[in-house]
Amino acid sequence: MTKKLFIRTFGCQMNEYDSGKMADLLQSTNNFVRTDSPDNADVVILNTCSIREKAEDKVFSDLGRLNELKQSRPNLIIAVGGCVASQEGESIIERAPYVDLVFGPQTLHRLPELIASREATGLPQIDISFPEIEKFDALPTPEANGPTAFVSIMEGCSKYCTFCVVPYTRGEEFSRPFIDILKEISELVKQGVKEVTLLGQNVNAWQNTDEHGNDLDFAWLIEQTHNIIGLERIRFTTSHPLEFNDNLIEAFGRFPKLMNQVHLPVQSGSDKVLGQMKRGYTAKQYLEIIKKLKEVCPTISITSDFIVGFPGETEEDFQKTLDLIDLVNFDGSYAFIYSPRPGTPAAKLLDNVPEEIKKERLTRLLKKTDSFNIKYSQDMVGTVQHVLVDGFSKRHTDQLRGKTTNNRVVNFAGNPRLIGQIVPIKITSIAHFSLRGEIQINT
Ligand code: SAH
Ligand code: F3S
Repeated sequence: MTKKLFIRTFGCQMNEYDSGKMADLLQSTNNFVRTDSPDNADVVILNTCSIREKAEDKVFSDLGRLNELKQSRPNLIIAVGGCVASQEGESIIERAPYVDLVFGPQTLHRLPELIASREATGLPQIDISFPEIEKFDALPTPEANGPTAFVSIMEGCSKYCTFCVVPYTRGEEFSRPFIDILKEISELVKQGVKEVTLLGQNVNAWQNTDEHGNDLDFAWLIEQTHNIIGLERIRFTTSHPLEFNDNLIEAFGRFPKLMNQVHLPVQSGSDKVLGQMKRGYTAKQYLEIIKKLKEVCPTISITSDFIVGFPGETEEDFQKTLDLIDLVNFDGSYAFIYSPRPGTPAAKLLDNVPEEIKKERLTRLLKKTDSFNIKYSQDMVGTVQHVLVDGFSKRHTDQLRGKTTNNRVVNFAGNPRLIGQIVPIKITSIAHFSLRGEIQINT
């Protein structure tokens, strides 16, 4: 009988990608099929995130519920993967002894062996090591799931921003060989994929050397990706201002398949705070990148991540962040209240911004970025956008859904045969953070 696998994913797109890989792998090795409820699953995997405290708390409350399920179904295998697993390791089993497997982002390819060992020995299995090199080689050929796909091109992060757990949970930066990446993309394109998003915690830190020992950078990889016939759109996330070199900026002018959208987290507009975060750039340097990007690609839509309430952040520092938002004109953004993470250098600093002030700053910041987001959307009403149709609308299942070049969701009425095609859509109105439109005939 086919066994069922339930995966709950927390956190970033890297985790979404990893969950997909776990499902593909267990399907090919153990014939598992994915189910959408833990109630009828034989194996439940929580693919966890430890970027902020809240994300971590959710994992343990979920585990409590799974324990109840296991009381009635003792053969249920409960696995904890991802960044909480990587950080907590054995202590997960100490806190939740009913957990069967603990594995990290770099050992997900060993899941079949871990399951087999658990079944053979009856003992919990833990593997949170970092053998990056073998991970991608051990995974099955990717299977396309619609016209868009993510392709992981590098792993980990070596930036060690003082607030961030990623370098500890995912390990140091490791770039996949370009041959493997281009092969994976070509494979996906053969299966009908039109758009790829190149993924990495620090995607523009990607580097390789060619057979003559020459350095290859991320802009070079974009050029090679651009040359793949049948592929129509390229995006990437998440990039870091430090490696956002002129080659990469110019790529936005040179390669029409590279979409006019970039997520480039700045975190703060205050040089004092940026220094304490060890981001490695000043507000002025960040603005210089933005200026050049807008020169090369005037329609580019820029989004960012912000942290408010970093230790020692004054009202004056925060005001500098608001001023920077005005200067860049971000097209919406993500903002988070600073959350001290165990083991990071910033956790040793006095977390001295009162909670109400953190919340108030978050509200003020989001009000600003949301208003810019709405303004961008309003300006798009009446224009014709090229929309890659990727499926059905989430809310109105009789409608189709797609994305504009600048990464906005558009819902519209149309024939399902259009899924997978790029269609001209006239934007008619805005709805929350998405747009509504209608197919433009005779353009
Ligand atoms: N390069 C990565 C960054 C991962 S973390 C990526 O974008 O995928 C994503 C965002 O979470 C960061 O940009 C930062 O704004 C936020 N973040 C990271 N650590 C945090 C912490 N300790 N407290 C609050 N926000 C944090
Ligand atoms: Fe984290 Fe900074 Fe790397 S935010 S993922 S350490 S660039």
